[in-house]
Parts: sequence; structure tokens; C-alpha cells
Amino acid sequence: MSKEYTVAIVGATGAVGREFIKIFEEKSLPIKKLLLFASEKSFGTTIPFKNQELQVETLNDTSFINADISLFSAGGAISKKYAPIAKNSSCLVIDNSSTWRMDKSCPLIIPEVNASALKKHSGIIANPNCSTIQLLTALAPIHNAVGLKRIVVSTYQSVSGSGQKGIDELESQVFQLFNNQELEPQVYPHPIAFNCIPHIDTFLDDEYTKEEHKMADETAKIFESKEIKVTATCVRVPVFYGHSISVNIETCEKITAKNARAILTQAPGVSVFDNPKNNIYPTPIDVASTDLVYVGRIREDSTINNGLNLWVASDNIRKGAALNAIQIM
Ligand code: A2P
Repeated sequence: MSKEYTVAIVGATGAVGREFIKIFEEKSLPIKKLLLFASEKSFGTTIPFKNQELQVETLNDTSFINADISLFSAGGAISKKYAPIAKNSSCLVIDNSSTWRMDKSCPLIIPEVNASALKKHSGIIANPNCSTIQLLTALAPIHNAVGLKRIVVSTYQSVSGSGQKGIDELESQVFQLFNNQELEPQVYPHPIAFNCIPHIDTFLDDEYTKEEHKMADETAKIFESKEIKVTATCVRVPVFYGHSISVNIETCEKITAKNARAILTQAPGVSVFDNPKNNIYPTPIDVASTDLVYVGRIREDSTINNGLNLWVASDNIRKGAALNAIQIM
């Protein structure tokens, strides 16, 4: 009989935290018990799980004593402080923040791409950035076939990537606009309703954002290659769920659009949604609440020798966060 695990969710009341619980409801996994943790603010909150009402507890230094595995999605500061505490309690950590991603002792895992890197873990495993997960799930099969030289991406990232507060901000701004009320941006530096903001995370000295750097740095770590050049522009768009990415790649060897489509059709975790004559290509609305990474608009780039353009869409809260962590688990 297989072992059953006690799993702690840190950030259980947040957008990703609630998705962990939803996935545990949907899929048959060997869970003995779920322990839910959030800030003091949420003390007394209950969350339904399998015909029970689970109490949300306030996170503290003793929270992990009875847990086998912890899933963290409560922001970088919480991960930095509590992941080592969990690890010292012999509780395996799978962390959704960016805190541990580039730490040499922490594998950075997309199960369809580099599951073998899990062997090296020493108690903390990092979940990659949401856009990186869907980008590399789609590109790994092409990289394995013909080698990637350069990746140019522009992202169209939904507000749920900023957590529940991003969802609330778009919802309230749409309401305010339709009621002729003044907009008061709080989460983003500009209105997000009916707008696009080319600014995700903070700007660094080179005028790229941290989010754009994460995509490049995490690609190098996951593909174990410093040779592949990555340049990104990350944009927040007024979509609730689902990130989309316009991708231009240059490959080492030539690959036709037809071959790329054939390779991606066989790829784990990928679904090809590519029949433009019938208006078939993935949109965020199509992909929300699903598990796969969808690829469409696959076409050759005639401006370079070995170039391909693709459009990649996936549910950022699911495959881009909660589902990927649970797959690691
Ligand atoms: P809370 O709802 O009590 O503030 P999101 O990413 O959707 O913004 O969610 C963030 C999650 O992180 C929430 O569950 C939030 O709990 C949790 N969180 C924030 N601060 C803390 C903290 N100090 N200790 C534990 N959990 C926290």
C-alpha cells in the first residue's frame, strides 16, 4: 500500500493556495491530512475540502512539525523565513516564490522538462516563474530536437499572476469605470482595466524588469545552458486567468512549422491548438481551469535562417503555479 502524506499549504487563502486545495479535491492523491496556514488576518477562516470545513491556522515556527510536505505560496519574505524552518522539521518544501529559484542547492523543476534534476534536492525544491513554466514546457521538445539558440518573448500576463489582490483590482476598476467612478490604482502603477502595462515586478539597473530577468535566468538553469540567449518583454493585461506568450525562436538546426507541430503534438503536457483557417489558436479564456500548455500560430520566421514563431497560452495559476508544484510533489 502506498504511503499517505500530511501536506501543509502556506498561503492557503490566496489565489494559488486555493488552487492547491481545488486540485487536491479533483485528483486522487495520497493525502492523509491537509494543514492550512495563512496570516493572522485569516485566523478563524474555514475552507471546504472533501465534505469538511478545514480551519486556517496562523503560520508559526511549529507549523511544520506534523507535516511531511509543504507547498508555499505566500510571497518571498515568508518563503525566506519559513522554508528553512520547515526543512529543519524534516518537511519537504516546494516553493512557489522566486526566493530559492536560483539557489544552487534548490532544483528548479518543470516535471515534463527536467524531472531528473529532482534527484539533487536537499529539502527545498523551487517552482519556476509562471511564464517560464509555460514557455519551457512548449520549447523543451523543440530544444531537444534541433537545439535553441535564441528566444525572444513578449508576454501577456493576467492579473491573477499578482495574486488575489490583482484579481480584485481588475474587478473593482471595471465596476468603477462602468459606474463613472474615479479609478484609484493600488496594485499597479496605472489603471489595468482596458489597459496594458509593460511593467511586471521592479525595474533593474539595465531597465529590464525582474520578471524579464527571471525568464532568462530560469531558462538557463532549467535547460542547464548559458548558451541560449533569452530576451523578454513582460506585459500585464486586463485578463483574469491565463498567460499568453508570443515566442520567436532561432534554432541551431532548421525545423519546419510542420515538424514543430508534429513534435509538439507528441510532447508531454502540451496541446497543439493550431488551425488558423478555422480560427483555432489558444486564448486565455480557452485555457483557464485546464492543465496543459497550449501552442498555436506555429509558423516559420522568414526573416532569419532557422526561425519559428509560436503563441503559447496556459492557466498561470494552474500549470504556471499550483499544478506544477503538485506534479513536483
Ligand atoms: P492572508 O489571506 O491571511 O493575508 P495572494 O498571492 O493571492 O496574494 O495570497 C497570498 C497568501 O499569502 C495569502 O494566503 C495570505 O494570507 C498569505 N500570507 C500573507 N502574509 C502572510 C504571513 N505573514 N504569514 C502567513 N501567510 C501569509
